[in-house]
Amino acid sequence: MGVNCHFSLVKKRKNEKLISEIDKSNLPNHVGIIMDGNGRWARRRGLPRSAGHRVGAANLKTITEFASDMGIRYITAYAFSTENWKRPKEEVDALMQLLLEYLKDKKLLEGNQVRVKFIGDRSVLTDEIRAEMANAEAESADRTRTTLFLAINYGGQQEVTNAVKNIANKVKSGEISPDEITEDLIGENLYTDIPDVDLIIRPSGELRLSNFLLWQSAYSEFWFSDINWPDFTKEDFTRAISDYQARNRRFGGV
Ligand code: FPP
Repeated sequence: MGVNCHFSLVKKRKNEKLISEIDKSNLPNHVGIIMDGNGRWARRRGLPRSAGHRVGAANLKTITEFASDMGIRYITAYAFSTENWKRPKEEVDALMQLLLEYLKDKKLLEGNQVRVKFIGDRSVLTDEIRAEMANAEAESADRTRTTLFLAINYGGQQEVTNAVKNIANKVKSGEISPDEITEDLIGENLYTDIPDVDLIIRPSGELRLSNFLLWQSAYSEFWFSDINWPDFTKEDFTRAISDYQARNRRFGGV
């Protein structure tokens, strides 16, 4: 047996053991992840912030594959917010470059059953990035096990504002009347058809939502920890799921 083969077997057994700790009948359908703490992770090691983003992006792949093996159907990861343009140009450029590399990396799509989709306003991204996004979506379109939504140039307030504009235009043209505006209609006018998020994981010690999935998080459970995203492991993910399973979700009922 080759060394690589041996390691992948050990990894598979370790994953299976972790997954066996979880009640498969009570998994969150949709998990949101705010990949925070990359900058601090890098600074603590005397590295540029972009090095933290690079390790963070690699970690997203690890955690997504693990979550998919566990049976999680939807994952949304916050990769770039509408507010992140305020960062120094050097960091914004590094994030865009990383995104491009991530999308061009065929291994992202090979060997797993993860479909990739994007939420956010693509109109201001470069032609090259938009083409790679469309390519990743098309290449992974028939994967059925797990959908990974990458939030890029995404803001929850902007998403709702955009939906309101679409609906206002339909009212103006006489296509619908104001009485026909329902929660479902607003949901249908968001960036894409995305289920409500059951669990939001935010590492790195911050306790806020930061404009992430505002509409879809009405009844989300939250899981916070001090770990920076590049250090967030499969064990941490398993703990988050297991803590979620101990919660009593009442959705406003008793
Ligand atoms: C927050 O950490 C993280 C971001 C603003 C970007 C997250 C992006 C990635 C993990 C990489 C890009 C993703 C893909 C899929 C290519 P921070 O920079 O705010 O960290 P800090 O709070 O420690 O400063």
